[in-house]
Amino acid sequence: MAHGEVIQGRWSNRMTFILAASGSAVGLGNIWRFPYTAGEYGGGAFVLVYLLCIAAIGLPIMAAEIMLGKRGRGSPVSALTALARAHNAAGAWRSIGWLGMLTGALILSFYSVIGGWTLDYAVSAAAGRLAGLDAARAHDLFSAMIGDPYRLFVSHTLFMGLAMLVVARGVSGGLERAIRWLMPTLFVLLIGLVVFAAQTGDFVRGLRYLFEPDFAAFGNRAGEAVLSAMGQAFFSLSLGMGAIMVYGAYMQEGTVVGRSTVLIAGIDTLVALLAGMVVFPIVFANGLEPAVGPGLIFETLPIAFAELPAGRLFATLFFILLMIAAWTSAISVLEPAVAWLAEATHATRRRATLLAGGTIWLLGIACLLSLNNWSHITLFGKGILDLLDFVTSNVMLPLGGMLIAVFAGWVVSRSATLETFGISDRFTFTAWRLLVRYVAPVGVACVFAHAVGLL
Ligand code: PHE
Repeated sequence: MAHGEVIQGRWSNRMTFILAASGSAVGLGNIWRFPYTAGEYGGGAFVLVYLLCIAAIGLPIMAAEIMLGKRGRGSPVSALTALARAHNAAGAWRSIGWLGMLTGALILSFYSVIGGWTLDYAVSAAAGRLAGLDAARAHDLFSAMIGDPYRLFVSHTLFMGLAMLVVARGVSGGLERAIRWLMPTLFVLLIGLVVFAAQTGDFVRGLRYLFEPDFAAFGNRAGEAVLSAMGQAFFSLSLGMGAIMVYGAYMQEGTVVGRSTVLIAGIDTLVALLAGMVVFPIVFANGLEPAVGPGLIFETLPIAFAELPAGRLFATLFFILLMIAAWTSAISVLEPAVAWLAEATHATRRRATLLAGGTIWLLGIACLLSLNNWSHITLFGKGILDLLDFVTSNVMLPLGGMLIAVFAGWVVSRSATLETFGISDRFTFTAWRLLVRYVAPVGVACVFAHAVGLL
């Protein structure tokens, strides 16, 4: 099939692309992963490196992905194939698409388990089980959940089913309606929580922890900390695996790439910082540790809700909205593989979704068992879930992103790129070319080198 014909669906208007892409970006990465990773590496210095990575690496790569999707009009594999052919480049470039699908499958397997936690907590909150919790009981509640494989199995299965439901119906139709009002509501609720944290938490200490860079906090783990900050930037912006690329493929011809990029990355970063501004003041006010790991928000936020008037209502609402934010992200992780399966095998979307989703669901079971029955199975001191979380974000996404940058910057012609970008502002375009050809790939390479002790 010639490119331009592969994907038929289009977002119904410009705003929908922005909404869908921010729905992909904003998710557990911002509200669950950002605070706990920042807490693991000591706060401010991590946050500073994270912000630098967003500006110098994330922004140009996001623009590159949108551009490639919009130009290639297909699943990442077929978009890259078509673009490589059009530029007389090696067909092997399509393997970026393969790598992306593998990365996506691995990400979704654990992402769905965590998505299940948010479902579980929404139910607990509605049932009043979070009422009157203190720090010790919040910890026990969390431990009880992750220690129970059956409970995790149920919530993981429900969450995965929800994601598959939308993908099977086709993203541009299934997703549009949901995100239009849910995203803004989550945002408002988060602002409300920041206000609450400012009044009742140790706000000053929380803010200083988050925004005062103290590189000594990295200790002898500087390489790993910088790598994780970069990985967090990729994960949070949904970059490096074709998720944003496949959404770009549904973009209307007239939508401008550059402005969309800045807006999406801006919203995503803001949500992460707001989440940090909620979590850390509560952590310090309750004498907790920032470095407790993946349970951080589940052990701290319920304490805040317990003190809040109408806390039961707000807690329920919050976990439902977080679940929905996770849902809209999970959909975008699944979409590249399903789009490709449907194209390549001419299977229906429903079949393709069942096949890809079912495989990922199985892998997710291994992830949830690693929290309890299989906790003795470890590699480099990490269980299956932690290991997948670490390797996909910190190695596979940046690697995919680096290849995408090289492809967009060096293989695709300047004129084709300029046309697809749809901007008249030559200065911005030239700056982007510079970033995507040199700064982003070299930046990723330097961070990799630093992590293995070469730099
Ligand atoms: N960006 C999403 C989040 O922050 C996760 C994600 C990663 C989505 C990679 C798509 C691709 O929750």
